[in-house]
Amino acid sequence: MSILYNRPDLAKQVNDVAEVAGYLWTKGWAERNGGNITVNVTEHIDDEIRKMPAIGPVTPIGMTLPNLKGTYFYCKGTNRRMRDLARWPMDNGSIIRITDDCAHYEIIADNLVKPTSELPSHLAVHNYLIGKGSNYKASVHTHPIELVAMSHNPEFLKKDVLTNILWSMIPETKAFCPRGLGIVPYMLPSSNELAEATIKAIDDDYDVVMWEKHGVFAVGPDVMEAFDMIDTLTKSAIIYRDALSMGFVPDGMSQEQMKEISTVFNLPK
Ligand code: 13P
Ligand code: ZN
Repeated sequence: MSILYNRPDLAKQVNDVAEVAGYLWTKGWAERNGGNITVNVTEHIDDEIRKMPAIGPVTPIGMTLPNLKGTYFYCKGTNRRMRDLARWPMDNGSIIRITDDCAHYEIIADNLVKPTSELPSHLAVHNYLIGKGSNYKASVHTHPIELVAMSHNPEFLKKDVLTNILWSMIPETKAFCPRGLGIVPYMLPSSNELAEATIKAIDDDYDVVMWEKHGVFAVGPDVMEAFDMIDTLTKSAIIYRDALSMGFVPDGMSQEQMKEISTVFNLPK
Protein backbone atom coordinates (compact mmCIF):
# COMPACT_ATOMS: atom_id res chain seq x y z
CA MET A 1 0.00 0.00 0.00
CA SER A 2 1.24 3.49 -0.79
CA ILE A 3 2.62 5.65 2.02
CA LEU A 4 0.14 8.27 0.76
CA TYR A 5 -2.87 6.10 1.67
CA ASN A 6 -4.93 7.78 4.41
CA ARG A 7 -2.41 10.65 4.61
CA PRO A 8 -4.13 13.49 2.75
CA ASP A 9 -1.61 16.19 3.73
CA LEU A 10 1.37 14.19 2.50
CA ALA A 11 -0.58 13.12 -0.59
CA LYS A 12 -1.34 16.76 -1.40
CA GLN A 13 2.37 17.60 -1.35
CA VAL A 14 3.14 14.79 -3.77
CA ASN A 15 0.12 15.54 -5.97
CA ASP A 16 1.15 19.19 -6.23
CA VAL A 17 4.58 18.06 -7.45
CA ALA A 18 2.84 15.87 -10.02
CA GLU A 19 0.71 18.81 -11.16
CA VAL A 20 3.78 21.02 -11.60
CA ALA A 21 5.64 18.21 -13.39
CA GLY A 22 2.80 18.19 -15.93
CA TYR A 23 3.16 21.95 -16.43
CA LEU A 24 6.92 21.62 -16.97
CA TRP A 25 6.35 19.00 -19.64
CA THR A 26 3.59 20.89 -21.46
CA LYS A 27 5.68 24.07 -21.45
CA GLY A 28 8.47 22.23 -23.23
CA TRP A 29 10.88 22.76 -20.36
CA ALA A 30 11.24 19.06 -19.47
CA GLU A 31 12.76 17.15 -22.36
CA ARG A 32 13.30 13.47 -21.53
CA ASN A 33 14.27 13.41 -17.83
CA GLY A 34 15.12 17.13 -17.72
CA GLY A 35 14.60 18.93 -14.43
CA ASN A 36 13.95 17.82 -10.89
CA ILE A 37 11.82 18.73 -7.89
CA THR A 38 12.27 18.09 -4.18
CA VAL A 39 9.95 19.02 -1.33
CA ASN A 40 10.70 18.94 2.38
CA VAL A 41 7.71 16.95 3.69
CA THR A 42 8.97 16.51 7.27
CA GLU A 43 5.98 18.34 8.81
CA HIS A 44 3.65 15.74 7.26
CA ILE A 45 5.53 12.73 8.64
CA ASP A 46 3.89 10.81 11.50
CA ASP A 47 5.34 8.38 14.04
CA GLU A 48 4.34 5.37 11.98
CA ILE A 49 6.40 6.65 9.05
CA ARG A 50 9.32 7.46 11.35
CA LYS A 51 9.38 3.77 12.37
CA MET A 52 9.24 2.49 8.79
CA PRO A 53 12.34 0.55 7.77
CA ALA A 54 14.28 1.70 4.72
CA ILE A 55 13.55 -0.18 1.51
CA GLY A 56 17.02 0.47 0.10
CA PRO A 57 20.64 0.91 1.16
CA VAL A 58 22.00 3.82 3.16
CA THR A 59 23.51 6.02 0.44
CA PRO A 60 25.99 8.89 0.79
CA ILE A 61 24.75 12.35 -0.17
CA GLY A 62 28.33 13.47 -0.87
CA MET A 63 28.25 16.19 1.76
CA THR A 64 27.27 16.60 5.41
CA LEU A 65 24.19 18.75 5.99
CA PRO A 66 23.68 19.22 9.74
CA ASN A 67 20.26 20.88 9.56
CA LEU A 68 18.75 17.89 7.76
CA LYS A 69 18.93 15.44 10.66
CA GLY A 70 15.72 13.38 10.66
CA THR A 71 14.14 15.24 7.75
CA TYR A 72 12.11 13.68 4.93
CA PHE A 73 11.87 14.67 1.27
CA TYR A 74 9.85 13.72 -1.74
CA CYS A 75 12.35 13.61 -4.63
CA LYS A 76 11.94 13.14 -8.34
CA GLY A 77 13.84 10.02 -9.46
CA THR A 78 16.99 10.35 -11.53
CA ASN A 79 16.48 9.66 -15.21
CA ARG A 80 12.70 9.74 -14.73
CA ARG A 81 10.49 11.78 -17.02
CA MET A 82 8.44 14.70 -15.69
CA ARG A 83 5.61 13.64 -17.97
CA ASP A 84 5.59 10.21 -16.31
CA LEU A 85 5.89 11.69 -12.83
CA ALA A 86 2.84 13.83 -13.60
CA ARG A 87 0.73 10.68 -13.81
CA TRP A 88 2.55 8.31 -11.46
CA PRO A 89 4.45 10.37 -8.86
CA MET A 90 5.29 7.46 -6.58
CA ASP A 91 6.63 5.36 -9.46
CA ASN A 92 8.90 8.17 -10.68
CA GLY A 93 9.92 9.65 -7.36
CA SER A 94 10.36 8.47 -3.80
CA ILE A 95 10.32 9.60 -0.20
CA ILE A 96 13.71 9.63 1.48
CA ARG A 97 14.85 10.03 5.09
CA ILE A 98 18.13 11.73 6.00
CA THR A 99 20.04 9.59 8.46
CA ASP A 100 21.26 10.85 11.82
CA ASP A 101 24.83 11.41 10.58
CA CYS A 102 23.36 14.01 8.14
CA ALA A 103 25.56 12.61 5.37
CA HIS A 104 23.39 9.79 4.00
CA TYR A 105 19.84 9.13 2.91
CA GLU A 106 17.66 6.05 2.66
CA ILE A 107 14.56 5.49 0.55
CA ILE A 108 11.53 4.60 2.63
CA ALA A 109 8.62 4.59 0.14
CA ASP A 110 6.96 3.56 -2.15
CA ASN A 111 9.48 2.07 -4.56
CA LEU A 112 13.23 1.90 -4.94
CA VAL A 113 13.45 5.00 -7.16
CA LYS A 114 16.91 6.58 -6.87
CA PRO A 115 16.63 10.35 -6.26
CA THR A 116 17.65 12.94 -8.83
CA SER A 117 21.31 13.41 -9.74
CA GLU A 118 20.92 17.03 -8.60
CA LEU A 119 20.27 15.86 -5.03
CA PRO A 120 23.43 17.65 -3.74
CA SER A 121 22.09 21.02 -4.91
CA HIS A 122 18.56 20.37 -3.67
CA LEU A 123 19.56 19.07 -0.24
CA ALA A 124 22.29 21.67 0.28
CA VAL A 125 19.73 24.38 -0.43
CA HIS A 126 17.15 22.82 1.93
CA ASN A 127 19.87 22.63 4.60
CA TYR A 128 20.63 26.32 4.03
CA LEU A 129 16.94 27.30 4.15
CA ILE A 130 16.34 25.47 7.43
CA GLY A 131 19.46 27.11 8.88
CA LYS A 132 18.04 30.50 8.00
CA GLY A 133 14.69 29.72 9.61
CA SER A 134 12.98 30.05 6.22
CA ASN A 135 9.46 28.70 5.63
CA TYR A 136 10.50 27.56 2.11
CA LYS A 137 9.90 23.86 1.54
CA ALA A 138 10.20 23.31 -2.22
CA SER A 139 12.92 23.51 -4.86
CA VAL A 140 12.34 23.20 -8.59
CA HIS A 141 15.01 22.85 -11.27
CA THR A 142 13.88 23.01 -14.90
CA HIS A 143 15.12 23.94 -18.39
CA PRO A 144 12.94 26.88 -19.59
CA ILE A 145 13.79 27.52 -23.22
CA GLU A 146 13.73 31.32 -23.39
CA LEU A 147 15.58 31.92 -20.11
CA VAL A 148 18.27 29.38 -20.99
CA ALA A 149 18.63 31.03 -24.41
CA MET A 150 19.18 34.40 -22.73
CA SER A 151 21.96 32.89 -20.58
CA HIS A 152 24.00 32.38 -23.76
CA ASN A 153 24.57 36.15 -23.96
CA PRO A 154 27.55 37.10 -21.71
CA GLU A 155 26.17 40.65 -21.38
CA PHE A 156 23.04 39.29 -19.64
CA LEU A 157 25.15 37.41 -17.10
CA LYS A 158 26.53 40.59 -15.54
CA LYS A 159 24.96 41.29 -12.14
CA ASP A 160 21.23 42.08 -12.40
CA VAL A 161 21.33 42.95 -16.13
CA LEU A 162 18.96 40.10 -16.95
CA THR A 163 16.90 40.80 -13.83
CA ASN A 164 16.31 44.40 -14.92
CA ILE A 165 15.38 43.44 -18.48
CA LEU A 166 12.91 40.83 -17.21
CA TRP A 167 11.41 43.12 -14.55
CA SER A 168 10.93 45.86 -17.12
CA MET A 169 8.84 43.74 -19.52
CA ILE A 170 5.64 43.59 -17.44
CA PRO A 171 4.76 44.88 -13.92
CA GLU A 172 3.88 41.39 -12.64
CA THR A 173 7.47 40.20 -12.93
CA LYS A 174 8.71 42.85 -10.51
CA ALA A 175 5.71 42.24 -8.24
CA PHE A 176 5.94 38.44 -8.11
CA CYS A 177 9.71 37.92 -8.54
CA PRO A 178 10.86 40.93 -6.49
CA ARG A 179 14.25 39.39 -5.78
CA GLY A 180 15.04 38.91 -9.48
CA LEU A 181 17.20 36.24 -11.08
CA GLY A 182 20.60 35.32 -9.66
CA ILE A 183 23.32 34.01 -11.96
CA VAL A 184 25.41 30.90 -11.38
CA PRO A 185 28.20 30.52 -13.95
CA TYR A 186 28.28 27.27 -15.91
CA MET A 187 29.26 24.29 -13.76
CA LEU A 188 29.05 20.55 -14.20
CA PRO A 189 25.46 19.35 -13.62
CA SER A 190 24.96 17.45 -10.34
CA SER A 191 28.33 18.59 -8.92
CA ASN A 192 28.91 19.73 -5.34
CA GLU A 193 30.44 22.93 -6.79
CA LEU A 194 27.12 23.70 -8.47
CA ALA A 195 25.38 23.09 -5.13
CA GLU A 196 27.73 25.50 -3.34
CA ALA A 197 27.38 28.18 -6.01
CA THR A 198 23.59 27.83 -5.89
CA ILE A 199 23.54 28.41 -2.13
CA LYS A 200 25.78 31.43 -2.54
CA ALA A 201 23.36 32.92 -5.09
CA ILE A 202 20.32 32.20 -2.90
CA ASP A 203 22.20 33.75 0.03
CA ASP A 204 22.59 36.89 -2.12
CA ASP A 205 18.79 37.08 -1.68
CA TYR A 206 17.55 35.47 -4.89
CA ASP A 207 14.65 33.00 -4.99
CA VAL A 208 15.40 31.96 -8.56
CA VAL A 209 18.87 31.41 -9.96
CA MET A 210 20.02 30.78 -13.50
CA TRP A 211 22.37 27.89 -14.02
CA GLU A 212 24.17 29.33 -17.06
CA LYS A 213 23.46 27.43 -20.31
CA HIS A 214 21.55 24.77 -18.35
CA GLY A 215 18.38 25.83 -16.54
CA VAL A 216 16.97 27.58 -13.51
CA PHE A 217 16.68 26.57 -9.86
CA ALA A 218 13.88 28.12 -7.80
CA VAL A 219 12.94 27.88 -4.14
CA GLY A 220 9.61 28.74 -2.55
CA PRO A 221 7.25 28.02 0.32
CA ASP A 222 5.69 25.28 -1.83
CA VAL A 223 6.13 23.79 -5.27
CA MET A 224 3.41 25.96 -6.86
CA GLU A 225 5.06 29.20 -5.72
CA ALA A 226 8.47 28.05 -6.96
CA PHE A 227 6.93 27.17 -10.33
CA ASP A 228 5.04 30.48 -10.54
CA MET A 229 8.23 32.50 -10.21
CA ILE A 230 9.91 30.61 -13.06
CA ASP A 231 6.74 30.95 -15.14
CA THR A 232 6.57 34.71 -14.53
CA LEU A 233 10.23 35.28 -15.42
CA THR A 234 9.75 33.19 -18.54
CA LYS A 235 6.72 35.29 -19.56
CA SER A 236 9.02 38.33 -19.51
CA ALA A 237 11.67 36.50 -21.54
CA ILE A 238 9.04 35.62 -24.15
CA ILE A 239 7.83 39.24 -24.36
CA TYR A 240 11.44 40.36 -24.84
CA ARG A 241 12.04 37.75 -27.54
CA ASP A 242 8.75 38.53 -29.30
CA ALA A 243 9.52 42.25 -29.42
CA LEU A 244 12.92 41.48 -30.96
CA SER A 245 11.30 39.15 -33.47
CA MET A 246 8.89 41.97 -34.43
CA GLY A 247 11.99 43.97 -35.34
CA PHE A 248 12.52 46.31 -32.39
CA VAL A 249 14.26 46.34 -29.02
CA PRO A 250 11.53 46.60 -26.39
CA ASP A 251 11.36 49.90 -24.56
CA GLY A 252 10.85 48.35 -21.11
CA MET A 253 9.35 50.06 -18.10
CA SER A 254 11.55 52.82 -16.67
CA GLN A 255 13.53 52.49 -13.41
CA GLU A 256 11.06 55.00 -11.88
CA GLN A 257 8.08 52.87 -12.87
CA MET A 258 9.71 49.79 -11.38
CA LYS A 259 10.63 51.67 -8.18
CA GLU A 260 7.01 52.78 -7.90
CA ILE A 261 5.89 49.13 -7.89
CA SER A 262 8.45 48.29 -5.17
CA THR A 263 7.22 51.15 -3.01
CA VAL A 264 3.50 50.63 -3.51
CA PHE A 265 3.68 46.87 -2.99
CA ASN A 266 6.37 47.08 -0.28
CA LEU A 267 8.68 44.68 -2.12
CA PRO A 268 12.02 43.43 -0.71
CA LYS A 269 14.17 45.12 -3.41
P1 13P B 1 17.80 13.86 -13.15
O1 13P B 1 17.06 12.99 -14.14
O2 13P B 1 18.90 13.09 -12.46
O3 13P B 1 16.85 14.51 -12.18
O4 13P B 1 18.56 15.00 -13.96
C1 13P B 1 17.89 15.90 -14.78
C2 13P B 1 18.57 17.22 -14.86
O5 13P B 1 17.95 18.19 -15.27
C3 13P B 1 19.99 17.36 -14.44
O6 13P B 1 20.35 18.70 -14.33
ZN1 ZN C 1 19.08 20.08 -15.48
